[in-house]
Amino acid sequence: MPPTDTLAAAEAALEQYLESRHTERLDSYKDFLRIPSISTLPEHAADCRRAAQFVVEDLRAMGVEHVAAEETGGHPVVYGDWLHADGAPTVLVYGHYDVQPVDPLDLWHSPPFEPVIENGRMLARGAADDKGQIHMHLRAIEALLATRGKLPVNLRLVFEGEEESSSEHLDAWLEANRARLTADVAVISDTSFFEGNIPSITLGLRGLMYAQIDVTGSPVDLHSGTYGGSVENPANALCQIVAALKGPDGRIRIPGFYDDVVPLSDAERQAFADLPFDDDSYRRGIGVAALVGEVGYTALERRGARPTLDVNGIWGGFEGEGSKTIIPAHAHAKVSCRLVTAQDPDRIFELFRDFVAEIAPPGVRTEVQLIGGGQPSLTPMDHPATQAAARAIEHAFGRAPVYMREGGSIPVCASFERILGLPVVLAGFTNPDDNAHAPNESMVLDNYERGIRAIARLWDELAEADIGPR
Ligand code: BES
Ligand code: MN
Ligand code: MN
Repeated sequence: MPPTDTLAAAEAALEQYLESRHTERLDSYKDFLRIPSISTLPEHAADCRRAAQFVVEDLRAMGVEHVAAEETGGHPVVYGDWLHADGAPTVLVYGHYDVQPVDPLDLWHSPPFEPVIENGRMLARGAADDKGQIHMHLRAIEALLATRGKLPVNLRLVFEGEEESSSEHLDAWLEANRARLTADVAVISDTSFFEGNIPSITLGLRGLMYAQIDVTGSPVDLHSGTYGGSVENPANALCQIVAALKGPDGRIRIPGFYDDVVPLSDAERQAFADLPFDDDSYRRGIGVAALVGEVGYTALERRGARPTLDVNGIWGGFEGEGSKTIIPAHAHAKVSCRLVTAQDPDRIFELFRDFVAEIAPPGVRTEVQLIGGGQPSLTPMDHPATQAAARAIEHAFGRAPVYMREGGSIPVCASFERILGLPVVLAGFTNPDDNAHAPNESMVLDNYERGIRAIARLWDELAEADIGPR
């Protein structure tokens, strides 16, 4: 980093710039959030392109170079770079401009794509996950380039539009652009702070295996009086299958499921135990009657470091009001497993598929298809880039971050490690009660503002860290 007084002067200029553009910044944030870039719904494909274009224009206006919305076969990847910090490390920044669907709409206090500020929070779909955090990165770069005319590190920016639908085309794009994406470290702001809005750095993310089970009986629904008792009911059969997947002890019963799970070390368990976490207030915050899960592990361990199996949706037969006496022709379930190091989603799918085939009752046809997946990832706490992020966060938030493992998944983390050979730092800034994926998603604006300062500071810290250039 530059000498302390030079840095202090630069930070004062940055602060002044950011303060002078407060209104403009929030207006731009809202404009970004108004674009309904729901990646999984085909009717929003044009909106995803508009969101990509928004980022493209923003980057060009601030002086980032080689900016383009690049075709992938799906929603475009926005790329841009600024590579004039000779001798300094190169950082690849990743974020996603796509968002989750917004149903159920009637639970939103205001329409999901009409952002409003309420109680110090920006309220809209994508306010936190992840458009808000992309916007913070954009504003940090803009402020640094405007006040210094240069950045302390080289940046390559990669903003994709398919993260919420399993990043289908991203790995191929990374492979094809490997030579162009050389960097020393990847920084991702797509995670949140710890319970109580305590600044944190995420060291682990779970992987994912997402599958669908389809059970088919007769070609059409049957009269349940005429046929009940002589044929298998696909909905009953499906429930029987689902019920056999997990025991009352919370253990998944698929043979071989735990074979590749790396057990927690005593030190790792101690790190979980040391986090300032209260089971009961966590439980109340979620609004459930009890915290349950695999026996022998704490709630934090189960969330961050143990695999799970969950039904995400189940349907079939008559769902209207009143009664209709039928044996449904077919029934379906979407089932996902969150995975931990070193479980492989493809391998877990095979085990899942084989077990379902084994336990499926006779008299119905049971099919299992893989819908998506992603690898788990762990990043080392003692990496100099992680420590630089810790210092930057402490500087901006007045408190050293805690280190935690998240239950969610960002499949690209493993891709950055595998395809580009990059260590990943997960420095996300949203409040843990951000309602990501749910109605009334929100971002605490104090996190947003300080986060911008933390990101700018991170580039100064990384310029001095022992991580490159390559
Ligand atoms: N930002 C999340 C990942 C995340 C979730 C980080 C919870 C920290 C806490 C990301 O946008 C996400 O939702 N990922 C999906 C991945 C899936 C679609 C492959 C997820 O975890 O369900
Ligand atoms: Mn996200
Ligand atoms: Mn998400």
